[in-house]
Amino acid sequence: MNPEIIVRPGRPDDVPFLQTFTRNTFEWGDYVADALEDWLKEPGDLWVAEVQGKPVGVNHVRYLSSDEAWFEGIRVHPDYRRMGVGTRLTEAAIKGARERGAKVARVAIDGDNYKSQAMSRSIGFVPVDELVVFSKDLPAGSANERTPAAADSLNVKTRAKGDVEGITMDEEGIAVVDLSPSDVPLLVNEALRTLKYGGCDYTWRRLSIGGVLTDLADGVRVMAAKDSSGAIRGGTWYGAYFVEPDHERGGLMTVMVELGSIFGDEPAIMALVHWAEIILAEKRDKDGLPAARLFANCRAGTQASSILPRLGFSPDDRVLGIWELEL
Ligand SMILES: CC(C)(COP(=O)(O)OP(=O)(O)OC[C@H]1O[C@@H](n2cnc3c(N)ncnc32)[C@H](O)[C@@H]1OP(=O)(O)O)[C@@H](O)C(=O)NCCC(=O)NCCS
Repeated sequence: MNPEIIVRPGRPDDVPFLQTFTRNTFEWGDYVADALEDWLKEPGDLWVAEVQGKPVGVNHVRYLSSDEAWFEGIRVHPDYRRMGVGTRLTEAAIKGARERGAKVARVAIDGDNYKSQAMSRSIGFVPVDELVVFSKDLPAGSANERTPAAADSLNVKTRAKGDVEGITMDEEGIAVVDLSPSDVPLLVNEALRTLKYGGCDYTWRRLSIGGVLTDLADGVRVMAAKDSSGAIRGGTWYGAYFVEPDHERGGLMTVMVELGSIFGDEPAIMALVHWAEIILAEKRDKDGLPAARLFANCRAGTQASSILPRLGFSPDDRVLGIWELEL
């Protein structure tokens, strides 16, 4: 018989217990152990499952807008799996989200995480979108050498004609700029031709003008690739930098960043990638780090998914599903 499971809001004294099983969940480690303190302080719900007084499971809900709840970081202690703990945590999160007025809950699940998919499906979540993940290591010094003039500017004019074999930039050049609030409708209109959701760093919202304005207000960098006529030809959500030892490369300290939901035509994607390489290489050099890796994700089946490999990106053998539950 399964033990009694109690689900309640998380507390500061849960953190040391939760950290014992949320640091090395996956082959690559886990981010949850380090996020717990912030999750307790930030708006949103942190749910903890307890069995016989011991915290054995956790999940977190962020509210991306008044009606969108984002479920993340569900972890159950390996000794307590398959007893209904994950389901109980998710049910508590659903109830909490309904009480806060959310109309939809979403979660991103790795394509090979069959346990989490099975659990989510059994609760009523359905897959609504699929993203492909790519990455690329920057060779030392490469980006700065290519465009030294870019070093002092975030408004990089890329003229990368001939820079990458097989892809030619527009003659007129494309400027990569931080999206201004007034250009949000233009970007959203363009993005909606191919995307349903936009975001980065494991958080995607349904694409809307209000959503992108909220991203900007939250400090997320949304980049637009504009041609000389002012038309937006593509864009991406630029993630937060994180620095970690790269275990595949002998623990080399590596700065990483993600181009989320990258979309657009060939010249636009090429410009966005080129811009990101420059900015990331600058960051690496400024912080005195030996290595940099650029991640990119795009909606499966879009033009970006065939262009990125030609720009030196390798598929990460990872697809990410976005799953949704109407509340
Ligand atoms: C995914 C996870 C949270 C599930 O937690 P759990 O407490 O074991 O889940 P539950 O006991 O509530 O399982 C509910 C249903 O999910 C499915 N499921 C869960 N684990 C499964 C497994 N190993 N194989 C197949 N189906 C599984 C089953 O349908 C199960 O119902 P059943 O036991 O009646 O057949 C847990 O395995 C875990 O912590 N994994 C590591 C972290 C992770 O992957 N998090 C998700 C990130 S998106």
